[in-house]
Amino acid sequence: MENILSGVKPTGQLTLGNYIGALRNFPKYQNGEDHVFVFIADLHALTLPIEPETLYNNTRDIVAFYLACGLDPTKASIFLQSQVPAHSELATILGNYAYMGEMSRMTQFKEKSSKLNEKKIGLGLFTYPVLMAADIILYDAKKVPVGEDQKQHVELARDLVIRFNHQYKQDVFVLPEPVISTSGARIMSLSDPTKKMSKSDANGDIFLKDDPAVARKKIMRAVTDLGSEVKYDKENKPGISNLLVIYSSLKEISIEEAEKEFEGLRYGDFKKAVADVVCAKLEELQTKYKEVIESGIIDKVLEKGAKEASLIANETLKRVKKVIGLYGAK
Ligand code: TYM
Repeated sequence: MENILSGVKPTGQLTLGNYIGALRNFPKYQNGEDHVFVFIADLHALTLPIEPETLYNNTRDIVAFYLACGLDPTKASIFLQSQVPAHSELATILGNYAYMGEMSRMTQFKEKSSKLNEKKIGLGLFTYPVLMAADIILYDAKKVPVGEDQKQHVELARDLVIRFNHQYKQDVFVLPEPVISTSGARIMSLSDPTKKMSKSDANGDIFLKDDPAVARKKIMRAVTDLGSEVKYDKENKPGISNLLVIYSSLKEISIEEAEKEFEGLRYGDFKKAVADVVCAKLEELQTKYKEVIESGIIDKVLEKGAKEASLIANETLKRVKKVIGLYGAK
């Protein structure tokens, strides 16, 4: 039996990128022997300014979409990071084993801090990967299914585990590994297919809450490339390649199979087919999302999840405290 863990930061509305790169993979782990922990990284959302109401609403939306995507709260533990204090406590401890140099090399920190006034870069933004390592380590998680952009953070968690275990000469922590799909791990913006689709890009994004008619328009207007052949070629045809990845991921077929379907067809026909599958998926998810919201189940799910998560998280914390000699943990 293995523990699987992943999370999403409630900084904005969920995108099709979040769905394809992460959310759709979570339920795959819940039916076997393994135990799935899926959480909402609400403390992480504070690393950049956010309105309290936006944070609250985004958080509830993510829980609803977790369930809409097929996560079953009787099988998986779904919880809020802020409701399990062990995350903050382990992050405080782990911060002493992480180096300033490695933190400043984190791609996401460099990207995000470069857009801020140098005097106003928050400490939380800098130490974010340590909190993320704590998120993973607390649950003895072996597998961490994420999109490509989180690979570096999971690798840092691995480095910290190795460093810590080595220092105390015992396997205190389980070594996690990122699980990244071979296709769909980096969905690109529809308005600029050389950039990642992200929660903060209104034009190039498809949001899971988008009205399907709006999503259709975004796809029909998506930037495409020179030529007329529907062929996967990331270098020379980034726009078409991105649409092929979206299409094949949602239809659960290979890129080659998708290419064959569109042999001899024009970009316009291809885009229409992509819009059809995307809209069908949005409709399916939104119907389930609405059912979840109307059922009023969210608080109960979170309460149950936090209890289950706290059990294992507190055990790990106790183990760590004992190993490092913190008084009272014997
Ligand atoms: P976040 O909220 O940015 O993204 C949530 C998940 O969606 C994936 N993703 C994408 N996948 C494919 N294409 C895209 N365009 C795309 N955009 C986002 C992300 O890779 C991620 O898997 N730091 C994390 C949250 C987190 C976490 C954790 C994850 C906090 N602690 C512990 C795993 C384990 C984040 O900001 O994800």
